[in-house]
Amino acid sequence: MKTVLFIVGSLREKSFNRQLSAEAEALLKGKAEVKRLEYAALPFLNQDTEYPAHPEVARIREEVAAADALWIFSPEYNGSYPSILKNLLDWLSRPVKPMDYATPTCIAGKIVALSGAGGKAATAHCREKLTELLKFIRADVIDEPQTGIALSPDNWASDTLTLSDEQSEMLRRQADALLARLG
Ligand SMILES: Cc1cc2nc3c(=O)[nH]c(=O)nc-3n(C[C@H](O)[C@H](O)[C@H](O)COP(=O)(O)O)c2cc1C
Repeated sequence: MKTVLFIVGSLREKSFNRQLSAEAEALLKGKAEVKRLEYAALPFLNQDTEYPAHPEVARIREEVAAADALWIFSPEYNGSYPSILKNLLDWLSRPVKPMDYATPTCIAGKIVALSGAGGKAATAHCREKLTELLKFIRADVIDEPQTGIALSPDNWASDTLTLSDEQSEMLRRQADALLARLG
């Protein structure tokens, strides 16, 4: 069975994006193995201390390398992606050995699916900028379909994500497209 590594772009305990990832996990059940990347303890990238790799960096690179695909669920912060995701992707974009730009990084060629729950724009700006960044670091981003959820007043009031039939269908189509890409 293929492995999909879930990455949530929010550290918030009741994160809507974490809740969305749980819905996606249910859709993949029995069809792909879902793992979750824990990266809250990842240090900020500092080229002074880049080599040898911090144990957290080494572990995260191994988990990414071992996955057949990544599925990122991210909120939108100020019309873009959260800084924790930029830090993570910057780490993944760097060569494992100093100056070794010939060996592909763990993110190069990796299939990536994008989803997000947020305000009125349904994280469109975040996903657009994440797509640009991921392509820059040579990931294989799935442009279509993606899932963007504009949270409802009820969602905000209850801190609970409830998907409409249409939103559930959007997520299901995305899960099916990812599974089709994995073959
Ligand atoms: C620094 C910051 C900036 C934000 N900017 C946006 C924004 O540009 N667009 C948007 O839809 N929501 C924005 N939000 C609101 C988030 O969508 C909201 O906090 C959401 O719940 C975050 O997702 P989570 O529940 O997965 O943590 C912002 C929140 C923060 C903390």
